Amino acid sequence: MDIKKIPRVFLKRFSPARKESRLLKAVLKGPVPLHIAIIMDGNGRWAKRRGLPRQFGHKAGIDTIRNVVKWADEIGVKILTLYAFSTENWRRPRLEVDFLMRLPVDYLETELEKLLKNNIKLQVFGETDGLPDHTREAVCEATEKTAKNSGLVLNLAFNYGSRAEILKAVREIAQKVAEGVLSPEGVDEEEFCRHLYTGGLPDPDLMIRPSGELRISNFLLWQMAYAEFWFSNTLWPDFSRREFLQAVLDYQQRDRRFGGIKF
Ligand code: IPE
Ligand code: IPE
Ligand code: MG
Repeated sequence: MDIKKIPRVFLKRFSPARKESRLLKAVLKGPVPLHIAIIMDGNGRWAKRRGLPRQFGHKAGIDTIRNVVKWADEIGVKILTLYAFSTENWRRPRLEVDFLMRLPVDYLETELEKLLKNNIKLQVFGETDGLPDHTREAVCEATEKTAKNSGLVLNLAFNYGSRAEILKAVREIAQKVAEGVLSPEGVDEEEFCRHLYTGGLPDPDLMIRPSGELRISNFLLWQMAYAEFWFSNTLWPDFSRREFLQAVLDYQQRDRRFGGIKF
């Protein structure tokens, strides 16, 4: 069919921009998840498909981070947790790890101003002591400068592993018990949560993982007990606003029962 022969008004109605604005409208009618967690995966494959070194994929993935923060804020998400570097990612070649350690520095160099302007509070989940100086300094500076912001809470999981987080909590609690400031009976869910990086934050409602992998790769194991999962085959640098909105729309169709039943 010759596309020129299709009436302009008809094309406009089915244009991607129209589709997105319809999606946005639909999303805003339903309950927006309070907390969204995303495993930002597929950067390496994105680069490989283009015949480029993996680093190019990581760099392209930063643009998607900038965008997803905007998209989440625009629909009223309160907490966004992004998995950027896992405790297992140290197993990668030295060159790639060095490059990944520079990413928070590059991201914050251009974005810190914007985070401040948009009232976004940045927090880091993970072992910051294990990071090279330049990485730790960049994230600590941003954390301190945005600490008083009251808008979107942006958690960057960097040098994060859920098992390490759980063990850290267990060690801290064992210490308290040993010192006699806490009784074994006092170790309840509330106390345990206080020792996780998520602290007093509500658990994620929705977990999004692009890239085609159907696993959670040591991410928020405790906190995602009742999260809704959404997977897609898109590689992170290609993850779009349309897909983000679709994930939220699909989430809104889910029947969350938390073990109970609906009457
Ligand atoms: C996600 O992309 C970024 C990190 C894990 C640091 P990958 O680097 O895992 O990309 P793939 O999965 O190999 O394509
Ligand atoms: C999970 O991705 C970690 C991050 C996105 C930071 P990986 O690429 O490391 O996960 P696996 O190895 O495929 O499970
Ligand atoms: Mg991966």
